[in-house]
Amino acid sequence: MSVDLRISPDQIIERYLSMELVRVTERAAVAAARLRGHGDEKAADQAAVDAMRRELNRLPIDGEIVIGEGERDEAPMLFIGEKVGNKQGPKVHIAVDPLEGTTLCAKDMPGSIAVMAMAGAGHLLYAPDVYMDKIAIGPGYPTGVVDLDASAADNINALAKAKGVKPHEINTLIMDRPRHEKLIAEVRKTGASIRLITDGDVAGVIFCTEPEKTGIDLYLGIGGAPEGVLAAAALRCVGGQMQGRLILDTEEKRARAATMGVKDPNKKYDMAEMASGDVIVCATGVTDGGMLSGVRFGPEVIETETIVYRSITGTVRRIYGEHREFAKFNLD
Ligand code: FBP
Repeated sequence: MSVDLRISPDQIIERYLSMELVRVTERAAVAAARLRGHGDEKAADQAAVDAMRRELNRLPIDGEIVIGEGERDEAPMLFIGEKVGNKQGPKVHIAVDPLEGTTLCAKDMPGSIAVMAMAGAGHLLYAPDVYMDKIAIGPGYPTGVVDLDASAADNINALAKAKGVKPHEINTLIMDRPRHEKLIAEVRKTGASIRLITDGDVAGVIFCTEPEKTGIDLYLGIGGAPEGVLAAAALRCVGGQMQGRLILDTEEKRARAATMGVKDPNKKYDMAEMASGDVIVCATGVTDGGMLSGVRFGPEVIETETIVYRSITGTVRRIYGEHREFAKFNLD
């Protein structure tokens, strides 16, 4: 497939690439799902990486991975800076997590997904593989109602006021980690509820966008920085607010971040600084979860469920795939 290069990169992204991205995450999800419940995180991740990379290299793009499997010296595939695509198209930047929630997949627990975001060059934050402190809420609130630098209690009280409910009616989502002991205690004091998740905070943040469905108003706490950028990209498409700060607590991390263009190690990034321009985010379920159904393997058909977000229009598409060829030839 060749593309008309007179069209602007944004138009190309929409006109030619939305469906192509669906194929990329579908393939990664099917590959990982074949290893669902096998207790081997590395193998499942590798299968997803291989499938995603193969599909990305078929796309008519001049792409560069800005969020990937790690830095060049530690990740042979889909490393940060790797060029992908057939070079016959627009320059785009890509954030990938071929298998978000490797442990969830290995243990066949809910919530693992294959996910990626694509935007014009320069529109996604180059985030090193470190932790990020994050806060996120869904759409419909005044700007700045919550803030990463405010206490959890202040954020919960402000959000409750903006929502017109009592603090104990606010539902938060936090990763179940020892590092969150203090945060959890502080939230408990306000009376707000906490959903603790073991993994998968890209979906955790996205849950805030539909509180009536998911029951989640507020994401709080520390997760991966790459996951933070992917979540910010999705949130930008449907509205909501998010802030993140990289946790650069060693000289080595600060130096690594500096080589990726991070000038201020304490910078608080808002959503648009993590993902801007015309962003497309695409995710396919690997295991069943609150956001997406997992891959179903039938004798003749493999079924997938994918969600595609686009920031310029705010369009959200849910795509159910029935793959006969994959099933027949045992492909991924
Ligand atoms: P992986 O898919 O790389 O295993 O990441 C899963 C995840 O739970 C992310 O969703 C989250 O951001 C990160 O790990 C948290 O890291 P940690 O497990 O070190 O607390």
